[in-house]
Amino acid sequence: MPAYFDHAATTPLSALATSALVEQMAKIGNASSLHSPGRLIRKDVEEAREQIAGLVDANPSEIIFTGSGTEANNLALKGFYWKAHAQDPQRRVVLISAIEHHAILDPAEWLDEHEGAELVFIPVTSAGSVDLVFLTDFVQRRGSEIAVIAVMHSNNETGTLQPIAEVVAIAGDIPVHTDAVQSFGKVDFSFSQLGVTSATISAHKIGGPLGVAALILRRGLDLTPILHGGGQERDIRSGTLNAPSIVSFAAAAQESTSKMAERAIYIRSLKKYLVESLFAIFPDITVNGDQTHSLPGIVNITFPGTESDGLLLLLDAEGFYCSTGSACSAGVPRPSHVLLAMGVSERDARSSLRFSLSFSNTRAEIDQLCEVIGSVVHRARAALARG
Ligand SMILES: Cc1ncc(COP(=O)(O)O)c(C=O)c1O
Repeated sequence: MPAYFDHAATTPLSALATSALVEQMAKIGNASSLHSPGRLIRKDVEEAREQIAGLVDANPSEIIFTGSGTEANNLALKGFYWKAHAQDPQRRVVLISAIEHHAILDPAEWLDEHEGAELVFIPVTSAGSVDLVFLTDFVQRRGSEIAVIAVMHSNNETGTLQPIAEVVAIAGDIPVHTDAVQSFGKVDFSFSQLGVTSATISAHKIGGPLGVAALILRRGLDLTPILHGGGQERDIRSGTLNAPSIVSFAAAAQESTSKMAERAIYIRSLKKYLVESLFAIFPDITVNGDQTHSLPGIVNITFPGTESDGLLLLLDAEGFYCSTGSACSAGVPRPSHVLLAMGVSERDARSSLRFSLSFSNTRAEIDQLCEVIGSVVHRARAALARG
């Protein structure tokens, strides 16, 4: 029986989210139209907005719907940079953690290459957590030059949770953006308590549809938009509102949040079982990242002497699906920048796999994986040794 261990890449649409999506798709109207059908769609969108806002502890006006987490991250980083830089040309520094997803890393590099920004990385510890000593020192020395700080809420490759409240305290009045795409629906997340300026959440990581996400942006703030058009979403994100996906996103958010605590206990126990079972077979494996301050379902393991892409494909042939890190960079045989930033050697970074579990996975699936993984790793090691 095949087993899917790649829920951090995307996870199936839940039954509730599917019915919300299908029901909404049957309705006619554009949420911006003034006629009755349009107003009814607007009502559905605003109810979804209120529901999501309630779940992340934000004000409904702080939710800006976007077409993806990638878009929300781009909007925050570029929007804050352009705004700060326009107000004070001295503010050129874009300060991001060294372990950000490509949806932050690449726009930051783009700002550096094309918009006159200076990109600075906050290093991380060997456990994969941002170095607060570096951050404090940097903010003290060059705070007046920083346009925006971005530190993800949890890392998508290792699952390590980041000390966001501390980052916010150190940042003072510099805007702080957090990419909470992997955290929302998996661990407690309160926008107002964290005190960040903005945060990203995405529907398809929590049982909602692909192609809808949100930037949560502190009330009263505006951003230089990327898209110009109909002026939807406080004029920050133009484009006809994707009402079916938004309504379905809210259904998935409600479901995953209400079941979060119960699921987290189960998923964490499953992760422990996976790690213990793998250690019993391979005493030389390493688990990367902090396992105490972590998401319940993500585990990143180095299998020494293997090439991760080869290992992934051998497992795929046996019906077990996992990842070499971020799906967005899969296919490009580069060692993970996240593991390298943690001080993992390039050789070990090239020998690492991410398993991401959900409430739908079972111990039996892990037992089945463990039945084949010995021979799979043996073949992967032999392939690497042959060159
Ligand atoms: C941490 C993180 N940020 C951003 C994204 C991108 O989100 P989306 O797929 O909605 O564009 C992902 C997806 O893998 C992610 O894991």
